[in-house]
Amino acid sequence: MSKLFVAGEVFHGPGSLEELKNIKGKKAFVVTGGSSMKKSGTLDKAVAFLNEAGIETFVFDGVEEDPSSATSFKGAEAMLAFQPDWIVGIGGCSAIDAAKTMWIFYEHPETEFDSLIKPFSVPVLRNKAKFIAIPSTSGTGTETTGLAVITDREKGVKYPIVSYELTPDIAIIDGQICASMPAHVTSNTGLDALTHCVEAYVSNIDDNFADVLSKGGLEIVFDNLEEAVKNPTNIAARQNMHDASFMGGLAFNNAWLGIVHSLSHQVGALYGIPHGCANAIFLPNVIRYNSVATNKFPSLAKVIGLQTAEELAQAIEGLRKRVNNISSLKEFGISKEDWDKNLDYIANNAFIDPCTGFNPRVTSVEELKDIYNACYEGVVYANDAVLN
Ligand SMILES: [Fe+2]
Repeated sequence: MSKLFVAGEVFHGPGSLEELKNIKGKKAFVVTGGSSMKKSGTLDKAVAFLNEAGIETFVFDGVEEDPSSATSFKGAEAMLAFQPDWIVGIGGCSAIDAAKTMWIFYEHPETEFDSLIKPFSVPVLRNKAKFIAIPSTSGTGTETTGLAVITDREKGVKYPIVSYELTPDIAIIDGQICASMPAHVTSNTGLDALTHCVEAYVSNIDDNFADVLSKGGLEIVFDNLEEAVKNPTNIAARQNMHDASFMGGLAFNNAWLGIVHSLSHQVGALYGIPHGCANAIFLPNVIRYNSVATNKFPSLAKVIGLQTAEELAQAIEGLRKRVNNISSLKEFGISKEDWDKNLDYIANNAFIDPCTGFNPRVTSVEELKDIYNACYEGVVYANDAVLN
């Protein structure tokens, strides 16, 4: 028996933000990032819709990229003072993920951050508030996942907090909100969505729902990402990418991910390389590496008219180039000296990342180092024959 974990209610389509008018409640604590939601007018619109529903609002802004646990504690303190019955995360995944962890500390102020690192250890939520996610980027799918990524900058580690308690009650997927997203963010986040589709499809959890969502999401990304990057005001392309991001998120919420994410979490925390950008560097080589352990790549390649794992890897390299993304970690500006110094540390952390357990091929620290080195140089991983 399997259960499909999905956001409680899902509203999607251009203009669906207006659905906030129909929320029933008293107080909404709205969490957002730097200034993009304010500048685009989306934040004011969201607050106005909530006010129209008779809901009092408090805006907590300024959540940084790759939010820290300190931000979660600060937000939770403000929540404890305001006592909301709704928490609204609006903006990029950093704002939404921070809002999710604030929610934990609001409902359970005694919780220690370290106790949340072990998967599925979040205490029961919804005794005080429910959660609405309104993404402004099309990548993480956090609006339908039981995942929040928090960064410990001192240790240089990103912690995925994993629990179905964190799956939002309401997701609003409004492509119009994305029109102001800069091209490089569109590119990075879109490639993250693509990575979710690929990793969920081949993960070691077989799930028909995840498979169909992965295939559909992958097809939409190949058909729309380049257009969304090049013509940012094409709302149809924006909505399609937003839908694909949700599909990828829903797929991996049920089938989980793999070592692209394990590798990516470490370089993100240590070097600040954007998540989707890192994923797109690792993904083609991880497909090559995994192709000896699963026969699922050809059926995924078929979705875009291709036959083999190698063709799929090359198609992703082609798309990555067309959306102006880089092809190696070296290109990001990491020196060889620094790389060699940190390689053991990041490979060991990647090995114990929760995503590693769902990879279709059982891996080792040494093999992760081989993939890391190939991706540092931007060369094809060729330690195995590609069979599929
Ligand atoms: Fe991701």
